[in-house]
Amino acid sequence: MQQTLILLKPDAVQRRLVGEITGRFERKGLRLAGLKLVQAPRALAEQHYAVHKGKPFYDSLLAFLTSGPTVAMVWEGREAVAVCRTLMGLTDGAKAPPGTIRGDLALSVQNNLVHGSDSPENAALEVALWFPEGLVSVAGVDAQWVG
Ligand SMILES: Nc1ncnc2c1ncn2[C@@H]1O[C@H](COP(=O)(O)OP(=O)(O)O)[C@@H](O)[C@H]1O
Ligand SMILES: [Mg+2]
Repeated sequence: MQQTLILLKPDAVQRRLVGEITGRFERKGLRLAGLKLVQAPRALAEQHYAVHKGKPFYDSLLAFLTSGPTVAMVWEGREAVAVCRTLMGLTDGAKAPPGTIRGDLALSVQNNLVHGSDSPENAALEVALWFPEGLVSVAGVDAQWVG
């Protein structure tokens, strides 16, 4: 069983796609272990995207992530990290295949609606960063059906 951090970035909230996107993770069979609306402070955004510091799009990316409310979620389940990345699609919305969140709903490379952890190790760090208060992780009664 794995956990992953998913962010619905400010464009998802502003475009009123929170329900549409959340429903895709939910219908897949993943289980929600944390959920909140956050106006990300600059320091949180800097820590979250520290790996991209120095890249040409870094300043713009931080301005984007702090520009409005973000929905932070933790989803758990079998292979949750890879499953969520597959559901999200490629980074660039113009290249992401149809059927994926970005492929169906995004055109931009920066404003691509979602963040998902890229490894179990980074997931653990990102979950701790966005949910220092902890999670609500209880056994799902449907576990025998969804795996
Ligand atoms: N070339 C780029 N120009 C503008 N923004 C970018 C670019 N590459 C990535 N980004 C933004 O930075 C975020 C983090 O990049 P990256 O970790 O490479 O993608 P992903 O979110 O798919 O893991 C992307 O989701 C996107 O919002
Ligand atoms: Mg990434």
